[in-house]
Amino acid sequence: PVIVIDFGAQYAQLIARRVREAKVFSEIMPHTASVEAIMAKDPLAIILSGGPQSVYTPGAPQVDPALFTQGVPALGICYGFQAMAAALGGEVARTGLSEFGRTPTRLDARGVLLQNLPDTFSTWMSHGDSVQRAPEGFAALAHTAGAPVAAFEDAARRLAGVQWHPEVMHTEHGQQVLAQFLSQVAGIEPTWTPANIVDEQVALIREQVGDAQVLCALSGGVDSAVAAALVHKAVGDQLTCAFVDHGLLRKGEREQVREDFVRITGINLVVAEAEEQFLSALAGVSEPETKRKIIGREFIRVFEHTVRQIDAATDIKFLVQGTLYPDVVESGGGEGAANIKSHHNVGGLPDDLQFTLIEPLRTLFKDEVRAVGAELGLPDEMVWRQPFPGPGLGIRIIGEVTRERLDILREADAIAREELTRAGLDREVWQFPVVLLADVRSVGVQGDGRTYGHPVVLRPVTSEDAMTADWARLPYELMEKISTRITNEVREINRVVVDVTSKPPGTIEWE
Ligand code: XMP
Repeated sequence: PVIVIDFGAQYAQLIARRVREAKVFSEIMPHTASVEAIMAKDPLAIILSGGPQSVYTPGAPQVDPALFTQGVPALGICYGFQAMAAALGGEVARTGLSEFGRTPTRLDARGVLLQNLPDTFSTWMSHGDSVQRAPEGFAALAHTAGAPVAAFEDAARRLAGVQWHPEVMHTEHGQQVLAQFLSQVAGIEPTWTPANIVDEQVALIREQVGDAQVLCALSGGVDSAVAAALVHKAVGDQLTCAFVDHGLLRKGEREQVREDFVRITGINLVVAEAEEQFLSALAGVSEPETKRKIIGREFIRVFEHTVRQIDAATDIKFLVQGTLYPDVVESGGGEGAANIKSHHNVGGLPDDLQFTLIEPLRTLFKDEVRAVGAELGLPDEMVWRQPFPGPGLGIRIIGEVTRERLDILREADAIAREELTRAGLDREVWQFPVVLLADVRSVGVQGDGRTYGHPVVLRPVTSEDAMTADWARLPYELMEKISTRITNEVREINRVVVDVTSKPPGTIEWE
């Protein structure tokens, strides 16, 4: 792999993703990793990420100069660039001119790294210190007003660095610079493709599972569907999937899982019909945390019961989890930490069943999971579906959850989704919850009559990872279409409002 060393800003994951977009496999390691630990990964190249500190702050993360004498190509970015300069005998200092944001950048030479770039272009910067003098053997390639040396390389040693952030979308030619580092400076072949990921994972799963039985809990989401399809491709009928139908799904989703998914993949699916059970448990409850607890508790009960009904249950040795790479990185990359999260995802397992986890997506980012899903032949509607919370529509009805209210919300939600798709904006919007304010009524007029109906809230958001989000600026024509259709087609709804709150301070969901 290409190893991205994380110096503690939020950029390391983004860099790792961009490297993979250039079709090269990448992994993230903390800056505390020793040179031996890094070399044990047999890295094709090393990229040092940006970080929040000054190289000269006491206690600031340093780079062991030995990292640069292993013969492994390396690229320093922002803090990583300065750390590389400092480690190799260059000079880093505070110039008094900090640069944040869009910065005009001028080339002094192209070298290998910056070949084919124009003389000036705009880069995204975030630095107070700058490299004053490149280390011995390095050619300075660019400068800005605040950075006398904004890029350098030593082509013979295959070491290079840039002061700017090539990984952010606001940097012009950013992806090109990363790709040129990988292919031209480091000489790496771009072979990380969905087809190769599938082949590699299938081989790994076969080796791990042997002829044992495997269980997968399907949630209806992208991750568990792709994980299941991947495992099925590897071990066929040794896999059984369990799906709890809690009645809180969106319109068409249960059919998508129970019919389309099974038809396309040929997977053994055991369905627990539990709508009644969930709705009676939720009767009379409107407090959000109580709802969540009830849904979680019932889920465990139903799942446990379902697993016991599977013929092969006693022989099941493995449990499939749709854990993604960001979860692994954020939990410190440790096996134990990831397990805790996984168990939480499944909602609980019978105590006397001991499983080993299979996590075929644990090296992948969400966009790669989608690409793998498409490679495995899953349909677009499934691969591109929005993230959907475990408690489902139960936390999108503000007030008590009843079947009637669920049906109302399902209709409104289906209209919003359909129009978003028709407008071709599915991939621009991270998630588009529609929320029913079931305990609120407002007066309206329809035809000649007064109405006294419920409002729904449209909550389209853009996001990279759901940790932060912004409200999506959808075109007015689309909003108009959605609003008109909902009030015309869903009798109980007479008002449509839009949520224009970012996260923070608002969360994506209303409960
Ligand atoms: P919030 O509302 O906290 O949501 O901004 C962030 C993301 O998490 C999803 N979400 C959940 N997912 N179980 C889940 O699997 C849950 O209980 C849950 N609650 C929120 C939410 O849809 C958004 O994508």
